Amino acid sequence: MTFTGSDTFRAFVARTNDSQFERGVVSLTLGDLPTDGVLIDVAWSGVNYKDALAATANGRVARISPLVVGIDLAGHVIESDVDWLAVGQPVIAHGYELGVSRHGGFAERARVPAEWVVPLPDGLTLREAMTIGTPGFTAALSVEALESDGLTPGTGPILVTGASGGVGSLAVSILARRGYEVAASSGKPSARPYLRRLGASTLMGRLGDTTLIDRTDLVQPPKPLSSARWAGAIDCVGGAALAHVLPSLSPGAAVAASGNTGGADLHTSVLPFILRGVSLLGIDSVNVAIEDRRRVWQRLATDLRPSDIAAIGHEISLEDLDGALDAIGDGGVTGRLLVRIGA
Ligand SMILES: NC(=O)c1ccc[n+]([C@@H]2O[C@H](COP(=O)([O-])OP(=O)(O)OC[C@H]3O[C@@H](n4cnc5c(N)ncnc54)[C@H](OP(=O)(O)O)[C@@H]3O)[C@@H](O)[C@H]2O)c1
Repeated sequence: MTFTGSDTFRAFVARTNDSQFERGVVSLTLGDLPTDGVLIDVAWSGVNYKDALAATANGRVARISPLVVGIDLAGHVIESDVDWLAVGQPVIAHGYELGVSRHGGFAERARVPAEWVVPLPDGLTLREAMTIGTPGFTAALSVEALESDGLTPGTGPILVTGASGGVGSLAVSILARRGYEVAASSGKPSARPYLRRLGASTLMGRLGDTTLIDRTDLVQPPKPLSSARWAGAIDCVGGAALAHVLPSLSPGAAVAASGNTGGADLHTSVLPFILRGVSLLGIDSVNVAIEDRRRVWQRLATDLRPSDIAAIGHEISLEDLDGALDAIGDGGVTGRLLVRIGA
């Protein structure tokens, strides 16, 4: 089937017009998409914190206007400009410039460079792939980084911050299925049963143990060193939360840091580094080479598969995105909002 520039489709677009910002669902034609790449019939997308920034006037993420928002997408190939991607093939795309300086996944159609495309691995549905999405990919990179640093399931408990959000939920569930003892830190008391279901054995912050990392209690500067509790940590909150994690890592342990929902500044001391030999491992999911991206997705379908994918995703529609983007920007979402588009 060939599509022409006159075909219309629905898309959620953010636009700045003469310093006026607007966003919402509009009708576009294929002529509005880039001309190069693989045309995809988008089945699912997912809502990320970065999407909330891209769809906000002062979010400093969007690089074009108008922009079809959405850094994640999964669907079927409709038109291909390479012989290794067949029409009808199920695929995933995320990262690079998608949803930032190239139209993204909150649309019924997307045109994506073939070199950004990941064929859907056996063992995952498109819906499951978008439940995992960029957050699960980031969590998997974090687990890989910690294990490359020497972490194994027997080493001791692992702390996950921002545990009820996208990266946090996927980190808890990947670690739990891999046999790690997981401590989940969250600002949402209501997320307690959910985090237990994903496999967390210890619940931190407002959920129970208040000795560390309640998002509302992070105004006090951390001690330079506190009791060594964690064999490793996955932090997607940054700011004061990360500053509290570093002094509580065990000797030789590492924290994989990927996010800044709690702030971009990091005020800490060198003591955890020079007296306990701890490591701060930076995680960037955006610019991962495509061979590594495809390899990590194979692992997400097999040995890094999350424990309970069905518990994490909640379906919404393109029309629900306006409120969903506000909710995720405020840190108010538990799990992952899945956008049903053409499925
Ligand atoms: N480096 C990368 O490649 C990469 C990839 C993906 C995401 N990220 C970043 O990772 C972070 C999480 O992304 P996400 O998509 O998982 O977001 P999300 O679903 O909104 O989850 C973020 C979670 O952070 C916690 N949080 C703590 N303090 C907060 C605060 N002051 N405001 C809001 N939330 C707060 C909340 O969990 P609790 O209520 O449970 O505490 C919230 O649910 C973002 O900064 C995102 O940009 C980076």
